[in-house]
Amino acid sequence: MRRCQALVRLAGSALGPESGGSGGKHAAAGAASLARLSSTATDCQPPAFVFDIDGVLIQGRRTLPAAKRALAKLYSPDGSQPLYPLAFLTNGGGVTECFKAHQLSEWLGVNVQQSQVVLSHTPMRQLAAMYADQPVLVAGRGQVQDVMHRYGFRHVLNLRQLARAMPAAVPFHEDQGLVSGRTDLPCYTKTLKYGSPEHPISAVMVLTDPSDWYRDLQLITDVLLSRGMPGHTSPPDAPPVAVYFSNPDLLWANEFSAPRFGQGAFAACLETLYEKVSGQPLNAHFFGKPHAAPYRLAEELLLAQAAALGLVPPTAEAALPGLDSGAELAAQTSTAALDGIPWPFGAIYAVGDNPAADVRGANAAGSPWVSVLVTKTGVARQNCAVDCAQASCKVRAAM
Ligand code: G3P
Ligand code: MG
Repeated sequence: MRRCQALVRLAGSALGPESGGSGGKHAAAGAASLARLSSTATDCQPPAFVFDIDGVLIQGRRTLPAAKRALAKLYSPDGSQPLYPLAFLTNGGGVTECFKAHQLSEWLGVNVQQSQVVLSHTPMRQLAAMYADQPVLVAGRGQVQDVMHRYGFRHVLNLRQLARAMPAAVPFHEDQGLVSGRTDLPCYTKTLKYGSPEHPISAVMVLTDPSDWYRDLQLITDVLLSRGMPGHTSPPDAPPVAVYFSNPDLLWANEFSAPRFGQGAFAACLETLYEKVSGQPLNAHFFGKPHAAPYRLAEELLLAQAAALGLVPPTAEAALPGLDSGAELAAQTSTAALDGIPWPFGAIYAVGDNPAADVRGANAAGSPWVSVLVTKTGVARQNCAVDCAQASCKVRAAM
């Protein structure tokens, strides 16, 4: 138990600000509230950590100094190896998991691997099996088309290409050089026939928060109302177009003094407009925290790391006799853990700033997940009753 308390104090001080010497009152508060949790860690097993990104590690383009100190305490002195199973679980995205791992390594000064990263759209990779050979429309900032291709979607169109193909559909867009009638622009729909009766768009996938709401709300609504054939009259039996959002965040935190509208706000606008125009509810699918899929993925990543760190569940050997190699144990352990055999770590501390995403998600994921709310640098200013975190820590952006 003594070793466990030390671990929790370490985690608490890593999360809390250091005002005047080590830890300070907030860190003590953070450590104290986390200490209450150590009783959940069975047999003094080491903890695992899952960090949210926006509002916890970074604020917009700025890395929070407390975040660098926190990660430094959870990594080997040279920053090359995490000392505990550790992953990053964000509702952000727009790049590949590999690229995000590279960015996190640069921002935090520790070695982050792709196998430690779950982005909002990582669980949407599974949709490629269903839509690989069908035209899909992707929305959002960043390299979303590239991400889709790497996930296995072969026919991907983005909103800019669709706007170029039918500038009259977005009349307020001349400022992007989309002057009606210009024919010298490459045209994906005309040449590739995406969005035509022959090749209707089957799904709309919003991978990150769109920046051009007028264009995207207008064109996505056109695609939905036309059953994937914008500008055409769709046959009455044409199948509806499915809509997928990578996360439901109404708000998220950057360096501005108040939270900003997120993908969930865009989704709310689209749902309202679609229902007003069609009289039908939108029935969109949502991924991302607080939904279960990203937590299951994070558990798989943590279990693989636990095996690599030589951490095994207390009873695995007993429960799974004859398994001698670590890899065998790792393979068995992952599924076994999901089948109820104890975890190789005492608790998964999920550190986040958004009660409706991070806290709700970790609370719903159940044991051994423990929700830890960071206040002051993110969406929340204090712990809240609706999505009540099991622990909370104040982090000052300046420290
Ligand atoms: O757009 C991303 C934002 O909604 C939240 O990201 O890292 O706080 O889950 P994160
Ligand atoms: Mg966040």
